Amino acid sequence: MSLFQVQGLVKRFGGLLATDHVSLEVAAGEIHALIGPNGAGKTTLVNQISGLLQPDAGRVLLDGIDLTPLSMHRRVAMGLTRCFQVTRIFPLQSVRDNLLLAVQAQAGSSFRFLQPRSQARGLYAAADQLAERVGLQHSLDRIAGALPHGAQRTLDVALALAASPKLLLLDEPMAGMGPDESAQMVTLIATLRKDMAVLLIEHDMDAVFRLADRISVLVYGKVLTVGTPEQIRNNPEVQAVYLGTETLES
Ligand SMILES: Nc1ncnc2c1ncn2[C@@H]1O[C@H](COP(=O)(O)OP(=O)(O)O)[C@@H](O)[C@H]1O
Ligand SMILES: [Mg+2]
Repeated sequence: MSLFQVQGLVKRFGGLLATDHVSLEVAAGEIHALIGPNGAGKTTLVNQISGLLQPDAGRVLLDGIDLTPLSMHRRVAMGLTRCFQVTRIFPLQSVRDNLLLAVQAQAGSSFRFLQPRSQARGLYAAADQLAERVGLQHSLDRIAGALPHGAQRTLDVALALAASPKLLLLDEPMAGMGPDESAQMVTLIATLRKDMAVLLIEHDMDAVFRLADRISVLVYGKVLTVGTPEQIRNNPEVQAVYLGTETLES
């Protein structure tokens, strides 16, 4: 059984079927990309997976456990974490303080038996480790809101990693980035594979084809097809969907 399963998710907005019985699976260690033209239902699907929106029908399972009735907060505790496109960063705090808050929020109970001084040491060490993991170790004392856009996105990923997710949801991590920042984010996401599965929603096809093990294509709320980057690139139906809007060349 796959680590993560979406089974027959349905979401209606009035007469519109924004997700029309969507099913997909992500294996442990897989980077699975979700692509599709504007209005295909990608954000609606991600919102149902993260728990922001309740589906009209269908289920979301992680490790065989049904997460559908659970709040966003409970889903994070179960191992499903979403990146929030910078909105969860405290802009007036330092990078270190942002990381400390995230570590503390997750690790509160595991440090509970330690003396306060050992607790603090553990939290600082965990924050430093996270910074190192994403390459922000030289920016720990900088004010988060003053970092370049790409570094803020990177910090947002680090905050998500504090929860040690089994599945990380990334909704357009490269949005608004220049080529250098995008390349760095691609490198970072590629390193996540060894520790977690990733569901990546991204418009940057170059990044998608570089990173994804498999790609699901969403069109008008339905999964058109699933395949390897090679299969998706050569699929005439997919090419027809993107013709004139985006190119699948990378
Ligand atoms: N809250 C909402 N109320 C009504 N319609 C919505 C709502 N959210 C999204 N939609 C519609 O659902 C469809 C899918 O939207 P969305 O999930 O944002 O697609 P994507 O992220 O792939 O661009 C679109 O037709 C959009 O207009
Ligand atoms: Mg969207």
